[in-house]
Amino acid sequence: MADTKKLFIKTYGCQMNVYDSERMAESLGAGGYTQTDAVEDADMILLNTCHIREKAAEKIYSELGRFKGLKAENPDLKIGVAGCVAQAEGEEIMRRQPMVDLVVGPQTYHRLPDLMEKVEAGQKALDTDFPEEDKFDHLTTRPKADRGPTAFLTVQEGCDKFCAFCVVPYTRGAEVSRPVDRILTEARDLVERGVREITLLGQNVNAYHGAGVDGEYTLAKLIWALNDIDGLARIRFTTSHPNDMDDALIAAHGECEKLMPYLHLPVQSGSDRILKRMNRNHTAESYLRLIERIRAARPDILLSGDFIVGFPEETDADFADTMALIEEVRYGQAYSFKYSTRPGTPAAEREQVDPDVASERLQVMQALLTRQQREIQDEMIGKTVDVLFEKPGRLEGQMGGKSSHLHAVHVTGANVSRGDIRPVRITKSEPNSLGGEVVGG
Ligand code: 5AD
Ligand code: SF4
Repeated sequence: MADTKKLFIKTYGCQMNVYDSERMAESLGAGGYTQTDAVEDADMILLNTCHIREKAAEKIYSELGRFKGLKAENPDLKIGVAGCVAQAEGEEIMRRQPMVDLVVGPQTYHRLPDLMEKVEAGQKALDTDFPEEDKFDHLTTRPKADRGPTAFLTVQEGCDKFCAFCVVPYTRGAEVSRPVDRILTEARDLVERGVREITLLGQNVNAYHGAGVDGEYTLAKLIWALNDIDGLARIRFTTSHPNDMDDALIAAHGECEKLMPYLHLPVQSGSDRILKRMNRNHTAESYLRLIERIRAARPDILLSGDFIVGFPEETDADFADTMALIEEVRYGQAYSFKYSTRPGTPAAEREQVDPDVASERLQVMQALLTRQQREIQDEMIGKTVDVLFEKPGRLEGQMGGKSSHLHAVHVTGANVSRGDIRPVRITKSEPNSLGGEVVGG
């Protein structure tokens, strides 16, 4: 029965994969699939994968191994691999796991209906092209009716920067910006469905340069256009490269009322020697001066970053430089990773750091980052912050949401609903969240 087929999607990695999984679910939904959370009920299992570090990629193979039993029980079960592992490994996936029916890379999701036709006819389907046509022109972008108050919206995809450690330019391809009218239409649709906060996504989102009816738009200009949408309360964007933070975007942080005071601005390392080897095209000093300018525009902005330890040839002195940069910036949120060798990237060929040394550096760095994060959280105690409520908390009568600074905040026993934005006085700081009371009940 075509209308009762069940689709199980599991999403790994970044927020863009979350967005893509929604698009794929819509596309497959048009083909008669409804989503299920129970993998054992599925007629189709789709893994939307991440290739950024070795561990993430290997996880896919062990996950696929676990589906062997399911396929034995239900020979009609179809298994698909999408995302960056699909793009990077292609046919190799079917060689290692012959039960895989479908391999589809991020730039060909709009071809899913045709690929599924093949799969349902019992054939294997593989598509890892970088096609000329724009997948967004063909993918439905109709948001789900029952969605929560926050949503992601991809505005830019791919990367031309080629940092020496990174697979993204190879898996997601060259930088492409979606046209302004498409983005605004999608944003208005989301708002009509109850969305109050939109996070604009792109691997290099601040390099956005989309076509508008009145010429090319930068990210700042796009944000100002979104700012005019009634009912939309909050705008965020991620992830940015320091070299693409232009004056207008910095100014928007001070002037654009809906743009939230939070910025994820990865620096990766605080050593100029390593930054050069990483092909980052900026120095520690230029990054620090940039942070100064952003803070001048928006003094209370909360900064978040990504760091890699153990990049090839990283010495103790290089690591100390990174620690010094972290001390100087004070991050409210951070993601730190041990360097992972990615086949095909320039850094993979170089002399690797002893993994034990890298692990030790990671621990030291994470201790500092956790301390900073906690201190910044603790400083919120006694302050009143606006919270967008998203869902019930773990405890009875609890509601949780996010502050403007993206802190998770929970309140208990308050009369608030999903989608409300209310002032909350912060009374406590816990390891990864804040607690408080809604001002005025
Ligand atoms: N090893 C470790 N971390 C990596 N990242 C990207 N590539 C690698 C790699 N090969 C990290 C960077 C990037 C984040 C998304 O993942 O810090 O900003
Ligand atoms: Fe990867 Fe560097 Fe591009 Fe970010 S900017 S996606 S780290 S190559």
